[in-house]
Amino acid sequence: MARLGVNIDHVATIRQARRTYEPDPVWAAAAAELGGADQITVHLREDRRHIQDRDLELLVKTVHSRVNLELAVASDVLKIACRVKPGCCCLVPEKRQEVTTEGGLDVAGGFAKVREAAKRLGGAGIEVSIFIDPDPRQIEAAAKSGAPFIEMHTGSYANARSERETEKRLHELIEGAALARSLGLRVNAGHGLNYRNVIPVARIEGMEELNIGHAIVARAIFTGLTEAVREMKRLIS
Ligand code: PXP
Repeated sequence: MARLGVNIDHVATIRQARRTYEPDPVWAAAAAELGGADQITVHLREDRRHIQDRDLELLVKTVHSRVNLELAVASDVLKIACRVKPGCCCLVPEKRQEVTTEGGLDVAGGFAKVREAAKRLGGAGIEVSIFIDPDPRQIEAAAKSGAPFIEMHTGSYANARSERETEKRLHELIEGAALARSLGLRVNAGHGLNYRNVIPVARIEGMEELNIGHAIVARAIFTGLTEAVREMKRLIS
């Protein structure tokens, strides 16, 4: 069964809307773990629009499962990661204007920088993953980067508007996972997954971990976070 990483960025988004102290992502992590979260995922963005440095530091000290830090290939956040040492880091592309991470990282285009970042994080004892589209060119570059994991971007699958398009995008994920595994990579996935579309992705051969944020935090408004995580775990299993 794929593990569930619960992304709690949007708990911090609500807090930052008023620049206050609540809701606290550290409390959210505890509630998610009570619901069975296998990992707590956060993105320390360069503009600090949601998760703050203080959140990351406290989460690394208090989370019982493990913290997965999403970060750009940028020296200041890489430095923070190497000092704070979350269990895992996922390298992601980052644009200041975007609402959320829009596409996968261009590993093939920025190979030297990505390989250097993966080496630096791996050298600090952190497990490294790279967030990429299910594109053979990017998968092959990721396999040469030294990172043991990729996280396949499921956004195109999640945003597909017809059954035919959904099938096509799912097929790309299945093929991408098979190619990655044949090159020795381990495979995670995430972005845009929700209570309606998660099952086919959880069923992909060799899928190790799904990182899900917006859908779980949105559901939590009505059910509470612990129950929202429990429901998602039930679907994945
Ligand atoms: N994985 C990565 C690498 C992401 O950047 C995000 C969004 O922060 C997610 C997973 C979770 O996406 P969503 O909030 O759409 O579930």
